Amino acid sequence: MDARPSHYPEIYARAQRDPEGFWGEAAQAIDWYEAPKTIFDPKAGIYGRWFTDGVCNTCHNGIDRHVAAGRGDQTAIIYDSPVTKTVRRISYAELLKEVAAFASVLQDFGVTKGDRVIIYMPMVPEAVVAMYACARIGAIHSVVFGGFAARELATRIDDAKPKLILTASCGIEASRVVPYKPLLDAAIDLAKAKPEACILLQRPQCEATLTAGRDHDWASLRSAALAAGKSAPCVPVKATDPLYILYTSGTTGIPKGVVRDNGGHMVALYWSMHGLYGVKPGETWFCASDIGWVVGHSYIVYAPLFYGATSILYEGKPVGTPDAGAFWRVIAEHGAVAMFTAPTAFRAVKKEDPQGALLRSHQLTKFRTLFLAGERADPDTIKWAENLLKVPVIDHWWQTETGWGIAGNPMGLGALPVKYGSPTVAMPGYDVRVVDEAAKELPANTMGSIVIKLPMPPACLPTLWNDDARFKESYLAEFPGYYKTADAGYKDEDGYLFIMGRTDDIINVAGHRLSTGGMEEVLSGHPDVAECAVIGIADTLKGEVPCGFVVLKAGVTRDASEIEREIVVLVREKIGPVAAFKLALTVARLPKTRSGKILRGTMKKIADGEEWKMPATIDDPAVLDEIGAAMKGRGVGRA
Ligand code: COA
Ligand code: AMP
Repeated sequence: MDARPSHYPEIYARAQRDPEGFWGEAAQAIDWYEAPKTIFDPKAGIYGRWFTDGVCNTCHNGIDRHVAAGRGDQTAIIYDSPVTKTVRRISYAELLKEVAAFASVLQDFGVTKGDRVIIYMPMVPEAVVAMYACARIGAIHSVVFGGFAARELATRIDDAKPKLILTASCGIEASRVVPYKPLLDAAIDLAKAKPEACILLQRPQCEATLTAGRDHDWASLRSAALAAGKSAPCVPVKATDPLYILYTSGTTGIPKGVVRDNGGHMVALYWSMHGLYGVKPGETWFCASDIGWVVGHSYIVYAPLFYGATSILYEGKPVGTPDAGAFWRVIAEHGAVAMFTAPTAFRAVKKEDPQGALLRSHQLTKFRTLFLAGERADPDTIKWAENLLKVPVIDHWWQTETGWGIAGNPMGLGALPVKYGSPTVAMPGYDVRVVDEAAKELPANTMGSIVIKLPMPPACLPTLWNDDARFKESYLAEFPGYYKTADAGYKDEDGYLFIMGRTDDIINVAGHRLSTGGMEEVLSGHPDVAECAVIGIADTLKGEVPCGFVVLKAGVTRDASEIEREIVVLVREKIGPVAAFKLALTVARLPKTRSGKILRGTMKKIADGEEWKMPATIDDPAVLDEIGAAMKGRGVGRA
């Protein structure tokens, strides 16, 4: 690692001392139709807004301006798809042609500035084209991850009320083809807000029959637009206008619609490419996430292109497509300088190829840094990756809500020493504190709630879609003056953060954020279930996996194992395979406090084999023995 002293302390201090100076300068890296004179307006929005009088366009900054500046022939996107055995390079100039033509197709469907468009698509270049086409005309996209079931899609349709849905005939998993059309049809049936039309990309692996009067063929519309020389210009939007809505798990089954604006998003993401990731324009960057998650939005689709880098769009898995050497092949073949993925992906590689034998046939000559995020990076996995790859392995911490790293090791400013288990330090603009219940700051090395002093830096959510009240209630009410991250942890004497877990009912399964409350709503919907509790239990591969406990209604005589199987199917049907819900256990009673609160925390400790104390408020201590015995009987967790 670089031995020179890091510029981080002075850069961070400057951003704290003079946020408007710092972000005003950062904003100069972006093209504006009207450059912002007001860098931050504390009176606008709920906690102030960035660049309120700036006028810009995200698509122009991601594509057009690079073509204008002579980068037209440079590859913008490398589509690498082991599941379809395809590698395709798309230059900035080609991308511009595709996006401008597809934006005109959207306009032909009546989509204009402020309209919502849902994108329910696999990892194909057309999905990136669709996102930029929306941005080009000021429409607000909402990408829904392909691993979600129809009901989840329906909830998002009802909240976003899209004019149009863009989809594909199927997604391709390592072991199976996932037809999307039945999921789309079921979701539209369930939804109250019906879209006016759908545009569907046919994939040869599983073609869909279009619904007459509603569905339109993507390829025909695209070729007709190109043949007619159609090309929609960029529509100027306010910096504060929404670019997208991305739904993320909340504490109920109704997901939260995180809103991202245009101006602040571009400024912060551009800064992160050099300040945090230390990448240079023209270099190749590999983010192995999915466009359905925030990491995919920010670091597959947007930031690398704002920055004039080449972004790899990888339609594959870390293992099984075809083997645990897949990442090494992609890095070597395309000359990636850095990679960003979730620790769980590296745990999967480590499990299949612990000695890293598959690395030997690949030359990672340009590779400089591995970045991990999405869940706590366990020191074993970091050390394994460091030993194997001989590059710095950098954990960093962020949330869907923030859109970019809250804490990280700023490689572009000069790396700080790595402390295993810590995502290092707060990024510029984030004033991160660890507090007690009364919002009083705690001393170093003391666990507490992690909060961010308002205002949040550019790119962070200004509110939830159509729900200012829920935004205030969920994030700002508990600790006045601060944004509640709902993560718990501590800061050491050097200001290094340690993120230890959530304070709410969110669990992290293979880097995917899921609500146990949402799963409990599904379990309670089973006709034989009287009450239930879902907890996340430790898993060596996925970090956590959900485990459901159900108490059956009095008088139910059916075989409990049959009901448990039905419950597993129900969660897959209602939430989707991504929930990885495979364990349901029938128990006679649930452990509760005398006031009736289910003791989920204690159940989790028992499952994970951690030390636990009998809660003083427990109603009947014998129930915990019953739960422990039930887990043991099924080999659950480390019980
Ligand atoms: N469309 C449809 N189904 C999907 C899907 C998609 N886009 N993505 C995942 N699924 C399905 C999987 O096929 C699997 O189904 P199954 O129960 O029939 O096997 C289920 O959802 C769970 O998927 P996943 O969590 O991906 O587990 P896995 O066992 O298939 O793979 C890992 C395990 C570790 C390889 C995988 O989780 C992984 O690569 N994780 C990376 C995480 C990541 O990128 N996170 C983003 C934040 S940076
Ligand atoms: P998501 O919104 O899906 O990106 O999930 C955000 C949550 O993932 C955070 O609130 C954390 O609980 C967890 N998380 C993300 N990155 C890290 C990290 N580097 N270390 C620990 N937890 C993390």
